[in-house]
Amino acid sequence: MNRRGFLIRTLLGLGSSPLLLPLASATAGSAYPFTLGIASGDVTDSAAVLWTRLAPDPFAADGGMSPVGVCVQWELALDPQMSRVVRRGEATATPVFAHSVHVEIDGLDPDREYWYCFSVAAHQSPIGRTKTLPNADSCPESFRFITASCQNYTHGYFVAYEHMIRDMPDFIIHLGDYFYETSFGETFRKHETEKAPVSLTEFRRRHALYKMDRHLKQAHAQIPFFTTIDNHDAVEDADPGQFAQRAAAYQAWYEHMPVRGYSLPGDNHFELRRRIPIGELIQISLLDGRQFRDKKEVCENNDYPDYGFGNYRERCELVFDENRSMLGKDQEQWLTRNLVENTATWNVIASPGPFLPFRYQHDGKELRYIGAWDVYPANRTRVASALESARSGHPLILSGDVHSFWAVDGAQIEDPGERVPVVEFVTSSVTANWPEPLARPITENLPYNKHVQFYEPDMRGYALHDVSAAEWKTTFRAVENVRDAASPAINLAEFLVERGEPGLTRTG
Ligand SMILES: [Fe+2]
Repeated sequence: MNRRGFLIRTLLGLGSSPLLLPLASATAGSAYPFTLGIASGDVTDSAAVLWTRLAPDPFAADGGMSPVGVCVQWELALDPQMSRVVRRGEATATPVFAHSVHVEIDGLDPDREYWYCFSVAAHQSPIGRTKTLPNADSCPESFRFITASCQNYTHGYFVAYEHMIRDMPDFIIHLGDYFYETSFGETFRKHETEKAPVSLTEFRRRHALYKMDRHLKQAHAQIPFFTTIDNHDAVEDADPGQFAQRAAAYQAWYEHMPVRGYSLPGDNHFELRRRIPIGELIQISLLDGRQFRDKKEVCENNDYPDYGFGNYRERCELVFDENRSMLGKDQEQWLTRNLVENTATWNVIASPGPFLPFRYQHDGKELRYIGAWDVYPANRTRVASALESARSGHPLILSGDVHSFWAVDGAQIEDPGERVPVVEFVTSSVTANWPEPLARPITENLPYNKHVQFYEPDMRGYALHDVSAAEWKTTFRAVENVRDAASPAINLAEFLVERGEPGLTRTG
């Protein structure tokens, strides 16, 4: 067998290899290997991904592991005591992927809770819980899930997750900025180093730090996640000199997430987009807004480096180029098909960054926020027309990225050319702050953007969605103080969208 063939067999855990060793001989000692916890994700109505990574010494370059594959046992049960085991198996934790394990289990029952654990040598992981989606053909009476985004370790405790667990959602969609490369000068909690990660080892260390956070660890052990990538997770708009760094960021991200779709090291085309069908009640198209888009910097005039930390550019015609795409051709076709052929009651897009337009006037000029869809207007128009020509389903957008809560009624957009008759709920950050220089451009321009019905930049938290066939309720849940590890949460605001009715109503 050649090296590549051997690598692939090892990655897939096929056959017994002379390099597969029990943990005791693969590590320096017999230290506990499950320091980064366990997780589940990418659930369907019949499958789930179970994740862990063996790292007895999480900040060591090799995680405290020898450079050989290790055999990990896993079990899946119907009860939290793991007494009624329904499936068990073995997976290989390979050094190629930092001894992470992604077990893809299928043939599961729909809408069912399962418990799982891993073991290696004498060590057993904690017991985790996951839940499959309702049967694709079923009509669930109600469904609850969460959208969250933007967690900077240095800005506060991830206490929002404690409240998410109490809310008992079926899953959490993490819209990106799962980690931050820098602290932006905050020192409330320290990253393992001030230096932004560049190499694979450095990215692994940063992920390890986040995975050891106790609130996040609990959430991963209790609730399945869907995750996508935003600008802080990986290098954006990489120049050729940064391709290796970007590839390292994606690989380390995969190694630490309960996801499928990664092919081989060095391949940047990681399939992150997801169609998440919740019976016939909701279809969610979760987008990858990072890997395939055209560069955000298209206009040469960089007049306002100090305005909003340089996130705004004067409007220029190049932005409106028909060929510009946020999603790339393949993903755009995939999304159009999802939206147009949708048969579920709610036809939902989950986007890392805000979708609906926001108009900025500054210094007598019109500016654009370059962080999201406002610099891909042609792509947005195409998505909007796909939403409008959908066979059925009430359209809705869920997004994050801007560290503030927004409820937006796109039908109220003043400029008819930019109007998109859809409601968007933007979740705030788990901890990442939105300092005054970033908030000011928005606050100053709110009077010219009457379609924004609610905006709150000072609170951290998440968005809780309660959905039935008749109505969609979104509650913005805010943590009172992210610097208090036991902080209570409050319901900041509550909104209702009625199926078939335009707009939204504030109900709390
Ligand atoms: Fe962010």
